Amino acid sequence: MLRARLIGTGSHVPKKILTNHDLEKLVETSDDWISTRTGIRQRHIAVDETTSDMAAKAAKNAMKAAGVSPRDIDLIVVGTVTPEMCFPSTACFVQSQLGIKSGAAAFDVSAACSGFLYALDVADRYIRTGAAAKALVIGVDRFSRIVDWKDRSTCVLFGDGAGAVVLSAEKGTKGVLSCHIHSDGRHWEMLYADSPCPPSPFEEKHISSRYLKMNGNETFKIAVRTMGQAIGEAMETNGLTPEDISLLIPHQANLRIINAIRDRLKLPDDKVYTNLDRYGNTSAGSIPLALDEAVRDGRVKGGDIILFVSFGGGLTWASSAVRL
Ligand code: ACO
Repeated sequence: MLRARLIGTGSHVPKKILTNHDLEKLVETSDDWISTRTGIRQRHIAVDETTSDMAAKAAKNAMKAAGVSPRDIDLIVVGTVTPEMCFPSTACFVQSQLGIKSGAAAFDVSAACSGFLYALDVADRYIRTGAAAKALVIGVDRFSRIVDWKDRSTCVLFGDGAGAVVLSAEKGTKGVLSCHIHSDGRHWEMLYADSPCPPSPFEEKHISSRYLKMNGNETFKIAVRTMGQAIGEAMETNGLTPEDISLLIPHQANLRIINAIRDRLKLPDDKVYTNLDRYGNTSAGSIPLALDEAVRDGRVKGGDIILFVSFGGGLTWASSAVRL
């Protein structure tokens, strides 16, 4: 049986750092409020690079770690809700920037903060059915473009960043063990950003703000519930107990959400990866960015079982279990 083995990881964040103290100069907030309520201390902001620039840099690092060349890749799936353009897809820009062979398939998936796990699920299916041998899966977002920098209730939460993995079709026990992706469109108004396109002259009704809008309290409650369910599915499908898990990498939105999930699972602190203090919520970039750090820091090694879990606008939620 073919599995999608993770043979390389990579990530990229822009150089510019915006600290909580910097934000105190933009909106009425404080380092104490932000760090106590969210766990975030700083975030990275793209200044002279775009979504596809960040994605291509993360992908290049992942390909280097995997030891594959641009001609080896036959599928690129990018999870993003802040694409380079309406079209072409950000995946096509990545293909062009990295010189990936003509004829490879390249497309984006839109699932907000669950974008990377949705993209992983799609690529895993291509690999297991033999439709692709090597796939590049990228999560990237540039929320600095869509947050309202005058709205203290949202602008303090997000940052820009990208992460990527290379998947290879291989026989054996290593690779993606399961993916579960879900959505409930009834809750779309919890978290959304309207189209950046101007209204058409024929349009009668146009939602006036292009900025991200969020009902933070409700999102918080739904996040804890749905991520708990998604973890349960991954554990049950693979017959896992908390002891089998080497590391849980949750979407990095809020430390209080992550701690609630940790407590439900009764996992010790050192089995739950967090880096949101340094990056904030990078949406689809969050999980692959954390994975790449965990790999590079030696927090995980070959054979370890890692659990990913996410939630985001849509509402969407997802989990995946992987043996490295
Ligand atoms: N600085 C200072 N005060 C603030 C700030 C701020 N940045 N933001 C809000 N406040 C104030 C509010 O106005 C309110 O004041 P009031 O009591 O006088 O009315 C008070 O702080 C409390 O506000 P709450 O919204 O109740 O604060 P809460 O403890 O719920 O924390 C937060 C808000 C951090 C947004 C939390 O609800 C949360 O993390 N929710 C989840 C959101 C999330 O993860 N979103 C990402 C989704 S992923 C995706 O797809 C993009």
